[in-house]
Amino acid sequence: MTGSLRYLVSEAGKTLAQADVANARRESALLLSYVLNEDIGYLHREPDRVLSKDERQRFETLITRRAAREPLSHLTGHREFWSLDFLVNANVLDPRADSETLIDIVLAAQKRGFNPSRILDLGTGSGCLLLTLLSEIPTATGVGVDVSDVALKIARENANRLGLKTRVDFQRGNWEIDLGEKFDLVISNPPYIPSGDIKDLQPEVRDFEPRLALDGGADGLDCYRDIISNIRNVLRPGGLLVFEVGIDQAKDVGQLMHDSGFTSVQFHKDIAAIERCISAFLRD
Ligand SMILES: C[S@@+](CC[C@H](N)C(=O)[O-])C[C@H]1O[C@@H](n2cnc3c(N)ncnc32)[C@H](O)[C@@H]1O
Repeated sequence: MTGSLRYLVSEAGKTLAQADVANARRESALLLSYVLNEDIGYLHREPDRVLSKDERQRFETLITRRAAREPLSHLTGHREFWSLDFLVNANVLDPRADSETLIDIVLAAQKRGFNPSRILDLGTGSGCLLLTLLSEIPTATGVGVDVSDVALKIARENANRLGLKTRVDFQRGNWEIDLGEKFDLVISNPPYIPSGDIKDLQPEVRDFEPRLALDGGADGLDCYRDIISNIRNVLRPGGLLVFEVGIDQAKDVGQLMHDSGFTSVQFHKDIAAIERCISAFLRD
Protein backbone atom coordinates (compact mmCIF):
# COMPACT_ATOMS: atom_id res chain seq x y z
CA MET A 1 0.00 0.00 0.00
CA THR A 2 1.67 3.23 -1.15
CA GLY A 3 0.54 6.83 -1.45
CA SER A 4 -0.36 9.84 0.67
CA LEU A 5 -1.88 9.64 4.12
CA ARG A 6 -5.24 10.70 2.66
CA TYR A 7 -5.10 7.88 0.11
CA LEU A 8 -3.99 5.28 2.68
CA VAL A 9 -6.84 6.10 5.07
CA SER A 10 -9.28 5.69 2.23
CA GLU A 11 -7.82 2.44 0.84
CA ALA A 12 -7.33 0.77 4.21
CA GLY A 13 -10.82 1.93 5.17
CA LYS A 14 -12.19 0.01 2.18
CA THR A 15 -10.27 -3.12 3.26
CA LEU A 16 -11.77 -2.88 6.75
CA ALA A 17 -15.25 -2.20 5.40
CA GLN A 18 -15.00 -5.36 3.26
CA ALA A 19 -14.18 -7.27 6.46
CA ASP A 20 -17.39 -5.87 8.03
CA VAL A 21 -15.54 -3.68 10.51
CA ALA A 22 -17.89 -0.95 11.77
CA ASN A 23 -16.60 2.65 11.40
CA ALA A 24 -13.99 1.32 8.98
CA ARG A 25 -12.60 4.64 7.75
CA ARG A 26 -12.34 6.04 11.26
CA GLU A 27 -10.51 2.92 12.45
CA SER A 28 -8.18 3.13 9.46
CA ALA A 29 -7.36 6.73 10.44
CA LEU A 30 -6.87 5.77 14.10
CA LEU A 31 -4.44 3.00 13.17
CA LEU A 32 -2.51 5.28 10.84
CA SER A 33 -2.17 7.97 13.50
CA TYR A 34 -1.09 5.24 15.94
CA VAL A 35 1.70 4.11 13.56
CA LEU A 36 2.83 7.73 13.18
CA ASN A 37 2.59 8.34 16.94
CA GLU A 38 0.54 11.44 16.19
CA ASP A 39 -2.95 12.63 17.11
CA ILE A 40 -5.64 12.02 14.52
CA GLY A 41 -5.65 15.71 13.51
CA TYR A 42 -2.19 15.19 12.02
CA LEU A 43 -3.78 13.29 9.13
CA HIS A 44 -5.73 16.44 8.24
CA ARG A 45 -2.75 18.73 8.71
CA GLU A 46 -0.38 16.60 6.57
CA PRO A 47 -2.66 14.76 4.11
CA ASP A 48 0.03 14.54 1.43
CA ARG A 49 2.79 13.06 3.58
CA VAL A 50 4.16 9.69 2.43
CA LEU A 51 5.04 6.87 4.83
CA SER A 52 8.52 5.44 5.26
CA LYS A 53 8.95 1.77 4.34
CA ASP A 54 8.92 0.74 7.99
CA GLU A 55 5.79 2.80 8.76
CA ARG A 56 4.05 1.35 5.72
CA GLN A 57 4.81 -2.22 6.75
CA ARG A 58 3.60 -1.61 10.29
CA PHE A 59 0.40 -0.02 9.02
CA GLU A 60 -0.26 -2.89 6.62
CA THR A 61 0.24 -5.45 9.39
CA LEU A 62 -2.21 -3.64 11.64
CA ILE A 63 -4.81 -3.36 8.89
CA THR A 64 -4.46 -7.09 8.15
CA ARG A 65 -4.94 -7.93 11.84
CA ARG A 66 -7.92 -5.58 12.17
CA ALA A 67 -9.47 -7.05 9.01
CA ALA A 68 -9.18 -10.43 10.78
CA ARG A 69 -11.35 -8.74 13.45
CA GLU A 70 -8.72 -8.43 16.16
CA PRO A 71 -10.02 -5.61 18.40
CA LEU A 72 -8.59 -2.14 17.85
CA SER A 73 -7.69 -1.95 21.54
CA HIS A 74 -5.54 -5.09 21.27
CA LEU A 75 -3.63 -3.48 18.40
CA THR A 76 -3.01 -0.19 20.19
CA GLY A 77 -2.90 -1.64 23.74
CA HIS A 78 -5.20 1.07 25.10
CA ARG A 79 -8.87 1.72 25.78
CA GLU A 80 -10.52 4.85 27.17
CA PHE A 81 -13.02 4.39 30.00
CA TRP A 82 -14.65 7.30 31.86
CA SER A 83 -12.07 9.55 30.11
CA LEU A 84 -9.20 7.60 31.72
CA ASP A 85 -6.63 5.71 29.68
CA PHE A 86 -6.44 1.95 30.46
CA LEU A 87 -3.90 -0.57 29.25
CA VAL A 88 -5.61 -3.63 27.79
CA ASN A 89 -4.59 -6.85 26.09
CA ALA A 90 -6.03 -10.24 25.23
CA ASN A 91 -6.03 -11.26 28.91
CA VAL A 92 -8.68 -8.76 30.00
CA LEU A 93 -12.16 -7.77 28.92
CA ASP A 94 -12.09 -4.61 26.88
CA PRO A 95 -13.72 -1.97 29.12
CA ARG A 96 -17.16 -1.15 27.69
CA ALA A 97 -18.86 2.24 27.61
CA ASP A 98 -22.00 0.50 28.96
CA SER A 99 -20.13 -0.27 32.18
CA GLU A 100 -19.85 3.45 32.89
CA THR A 101 -23.46 3.08 34.09
CA LEU A 102 -22.09 1.35 37.21
CA ILE A 103 -19.79 4.30 37.92
CA ASP A 104 -22.72 6.69 37.55
CA ILE A 105 -24.81 4.70 40.05
CA VAL A 106 -22.13 4.77 42.74
CA LEU A 107 -21.45 8.48 42.27
CA ALA A 108 -25.18 9.21 42.43
CA ALA A 109 -25.46 7.16 45.65
CA GLN A 110 -22.52 9.13 47.02
CA LYS A 111 -24.31 12.40 46.27
CA ARG A 112 -27.27 11.09 48.27
CA GLY A 113 -25.00 10.48 51.29
CA PHE A 114 -23.66 6.94 50.82
CA ASN A 115 -19.92 7.46 51.16
CA PRO A 116 -17.97 4.21 50.68
CA SER A 117 -14.50 4.15 52.17
CA ARG A 118 -13.73 0.51 51.33
CA ILE A 119 -14.66 -0.88 47.91
CA LEU A 120 -14.38 -4.47 46.68
CA ASP A 121 -14.43 -5.25 42.94
CA LEU A 122 -15.12 -8.92 42.15
CA GLY A 123 -13.80 -9.95 38.71
CA THR A 124 -11.74 -6.81 38.32
CA GLY A 125 -10.14 -7.58 34.91
CA SER A 126 -8.29 -4.44 33.76
CA GLY A 127 -9.33 -2.78 37.04
CA CYS A 128 -11.33 -0.19 35.09
CA LEU A 129 -14.34 -0.08 37.46
CA LEU A 130 -12.46 0.02 40.75
CA LEU A 131 -9.72 2.39 39.57
CA THR A 132 -12.27 4.79 38.08
CA LEU A 133 -14.22 4.86 41.36
CA LEU A 134 -11.02 5.45 43.34
CA SER A 135 -10.09 8.32 41.04
CA GLU A 136 -13.55 9.84 41.59
CA ILE A 137 -13.72 9.21 45.36
CA PRO A 138 -10.36 10.34 46.75
CA THR A 139 -11.18 9.21 50.31
CA ALA A 140 -11.79 5.58 49.27
CA THR A 141 -9.46 2.61 49.04
CA GLY A 142 -10.20 -0.78 47.55
CA VAL A 143 -9.42 -4.36 46.67
CA GLY A 144 -9.79 -5.90 43.22
CA VAL A 145 -10.13 -9.69 43.00
CA ASP A 146 -9.78 -11.84 39.92
CA VAL A 147 -9.15 -15.51 39.33
CA SER A 148 -6.81 -14.63 36.44
CA ASP A 149 -3.18 -13.78 37.32
CA VAL A 150 -2.56 -12.33 33.87
CA ALA A 151 -5.54 -9.98 34.25
CA LEU A 152 -4.30 -8.88 37.68
CA LYS A 153 -0.95 -7.96 36.14
CA ILE A 154 -2.70 -5.49 33.81
CA ALA A 155 -4.85 -4.14 36.66
CA ARG A 156 -1.71 -3.42 38.72
CA GLU A 157 -0.06 -1.68 35.78
CA ASN A 158 -3.17 0.46 35.34
CA ALA A 159 -3.13 1.38 39.03
CA ASN A 160 0.51 2.49 38.70
CA ARG A 161 -0.13 4.53 35.58
CA LEU A 162 -3.14 6.26 37.14
CA GLY A 163 -1.23 7.09 40.33
CA LEU A 164 -3.58 4.93 42.46
CA LYS A 165 -1.13 2.23 43.54
CA THR A 166 -1.13 3.17 47.22
CA ARG A 167 -4.94 3.04 47.47
CA VAL A 168 -5.58 -0.33 45.90
CA ASP A 169 -4.64 -3.94 46.37
CA PHE A 170 -5.19 -6.62 43.72
CA GLN A 171 -5.58 -10.20 44.89
CA ARG A 172 -6.07 -13.54 43.21
CA GLY A 173 -9.30 -15.22 44.28
CA ASN A 174 -12.72 -16.42 43.23
CA TRP A 175 -16.31 -15.54 44.06
CA GLU A 176 -16.06 -17.43 47.38
CA ILE A 177 -13.23 -15.21 48.64
CA ASP A 178 -13.11 -14.20 52.30
CA LEU A 179 -10.73 -11.32 52.92
CA GLY A 180 -11.44 -11.15 56.66
CA GLU A 181 -13.08 -7.77 56.10
CA LYS A 182 -16.56 -6.50 55.21
CA PHE A 183 -16.63 -3.74 52.62
CA ASP A 184 -18.99 -0.74 52.32
CA LEU A 185 -19.45 -1.31 48.61
CA VAL A 186 -19.11 -4.41 46.43
CA ILE A 187 -19.17 -3.97 42.65
CA SER A 188 -19.05 -6.67 40.02
CA ASN A 189 -19.35 -7.06 36.28
CA PRO A 190 -19.06 -10.85 36.20
CA PRO A 191 -19.06 -13.07 33.10
CA TYR A 192 -22.73 -13.26 32.06
CA ILE A 193 -23.01 -14.58 28.52
CA PRO A 194 -24.95 -17.89 28.42
CA SER A 195 -22.41 -20.52 27.27
CA GLY A 196 -24.48 -21.45 24.22
CA ASP A 197 -24.61 -17.83 22.99
CA ILE A 198 -20.85 -17.31 22.83
CA LYS A 199 -20.58 -18.77 19.33
CA ASP A 200 -22.94 -16.03 18.05
CA LEU A 201 -20.96 -13.07 19.41
CA GLN A 202 -19.12 -10.75 17.06
CA PRO A 203 -15.65 -12.06 16.13
CA GLU A 204 -13.82 -9.35 18.12
CA VAL A 205 -15.39 -10.74 21.29
CA ARG A 206 -15.81 -14.43 20.47
CA ASP A 207 -12.32 -14.97 19.04
CA PHE A 208 -10.18 -12.49 20.95
CA GLU A 209 -11.58 -11.77 24.42
CA PRO A 210 -10.87 -14.22 27.27
CA ARG A 211 -13.59 -16.84 27.57
CA LEU A 212 -13.12 -16.63 31.33
CA ALA A 213 -14.44 -13.06 31.14
CA LEU A 214 -17.51 -14.02 29.10
CA ASP A 215 -18.93 -17.41 30.04
CA GLY A 216 -21.67 -17.18 32.64
CA GLY A 217 -22.78 -20.83 32.46
CA ALA A 218 -25.92 -22.36 30.94
CA ASP A 219 -28.28 -19.44 31.69
CA GLY A 220 -25.57 -16.79 32.16
CA LEU A 221 -26.39 -16.38 35.86
CA ASP A 222 -23.92 -18.79 37.53
CA CYS A 223 -21.57 -16.05 38.74
CA TYR A 224 -24.40 -13.96 40.24
CA ARG A 225 -25.59 -16.98 42.25
CA ASP A 226 -22.06 -17.67 43.51
CA ILE A 227 -21.34 -14.04 44.40
CA ILE A 228 -24.67 -13.58 46.18
CA SER A 229 -24.28 -16.79 48.18
CA ASN A 230 -20.94 -15.51 49.53
CA ILE A 231 -21.94 -11.85 49.88
CA ARG A 232 -22.26 -11.79 53.67
CA ASN A 233 -18.55 -12.63 53.95
CA VAL A 234 -17.52 -9.53 52.03
CA LEU A 235 -20.26 -6.87 52.35
CA ARG A 236 -21.20 -5.20 55.62
CA PRO A 237 -24.86 -4.98 56.70
CA GLY A 238 -26.21 -1.75 55.18
CA GLY A 239 -23.57 -1.94 52.45
CA LEU A 240 -24.29 -1.50 48.75
CA LEU A 241 -23.95 -4.15 46.03
CA VAL A 242 -23.91 -3.03 42.39
CA PHE A 243 -23.93 -5.55 39.54
CA GLU A 244 -23.69 -5.09 35.82
CA VAL A 245 -26.01 -7.56 34.06
CA GLY A 246 -26.54 -8.79 30.51
CA ILE A 247 -29.58 -8.05 28.36
CA ASP A 248 -32.78 -9.48 29.89
CA GLN A 249 -31.04 -10.65 33.09
CA ALA A 250 -32.03 -7.76 35.36
CA LYS A 251 -35.29 -9.28 36.61
CA ASP A 252 -33.73 -12.64 37.53
CA VAL A 253 -30.70 -11.13 39.22
CA GLY A 254 -32.92 -8.64 41.06
CA GLN A 255 -35.00 -11.56 42.35
CA LEU A 256 -31.85 -13.39 43.53
CA MET A 257 -30.81 -10.26 45.43
CA HIS A 258 -34.25 -9.75 46.92
CA ASP A 259 -34.41 -13.40 48.05
CA SER A 260 -30.97 -13.12 49.70
CA GLY A 261 -31.74 -10.28 52.08
CA PHE A 262 -31.21 -7.21 49.92
CA THR A 263 -33.49 -4.21 50.09
CA SER A 264 -34.17 -1.19 47.83
CA VAL A 265 -33.39 -3.22 44.71
CA GLN A 266 -33.11 -0.75 41.83
CA PHE A 267 -32.67 -1.27 38.09
CA HIS A 268 -30.59 1.19 36.07
CA LYS A 269 -30.58 1.71 32.30
CA ASP A 270 -27.52 2.45 30.17
CA ILE A 271 -27.46 5.16 27.50
CA ALA A 272 -29.05 2.75 25.02
CA ALA A 273 -31.98 2.40 27.49
CA ILE A 274 -31.09 -1.24 28.28
CA GLU A 275 -31.36 -2.37 31.90
CA ARG A 276 -27.65 -2.70 32.55
CA CYS A 277 -27.10 -2.54 36.31
CA ILE A 278 -28.80 -3.44 39.59
CA SER A 279 -28.07 -1.91 42.96
CA ALA A 280 -29.35 -2.93 46.38
CA PHE A 281 -28.46 -2.54 50.05
CA LEU A 282 -27.82 -5.53 52.30
CA ARG A 283 -30.37 -5.61 55.11
CA ASP A 284 -28.95 -5.21 58.63
C1 LIG B 1 -16.81 -9.48 32.38
S1 LIG B 1 -15.14 -9.42 32.99
C2 LIG B 1 -15.16 -7.85 33.82
C3 LIG B 1 -13.83 -7.16 33.90
C4 LIG B 1 -13.90 -5.72 34.42
N1 LIG B 1 -14.43 -5.68 35.77
C5 LIG B 1 -14.71 -4.86 33.51
O1 LIG B 1 -15.84 -4.48 33.89
O2 LIG B 1 -14.26 -4.53 32.39
C6 LIG B 1 -15.22 -10.62 34.29
C7 LIG B 1 -13.94 -10.89 35.05
O3 LIG B 1 -14.22 -11.90 36.02
C8 LIG B 1 -13.10 -12.76 36.13
N2 LIG B 1 -13.55 -14.06 36.64
C9 LIG B 1 -14.12 -15.09 35.97
N3 LIG B 1 -14.43 -16.10 36.80
C10 LIG B 1 -14.07 -15.70 38.04
C11 LIG B 1 -14.15 -16.30 39.34
N4 LIG B 1 -14.68 -17.52 39.51
N5 LIG B 1 -13.69 -15.61 40.41
C12 LIG B 1 -13.15 -14.36 40.23
N6 LIG B 1 -13.05 -13.74 39.03
C13 LIG B 1 -13.50 -14.39 37.94
C14 LIG B 1 -12.52 -12.82 34.72
O4 LIG B 1 -11.18 -13.20 34.74
C15 LIG B 1 -12.76 -11.39 34.23
O5 LIG B 1 -11.63 -10.58 34.47
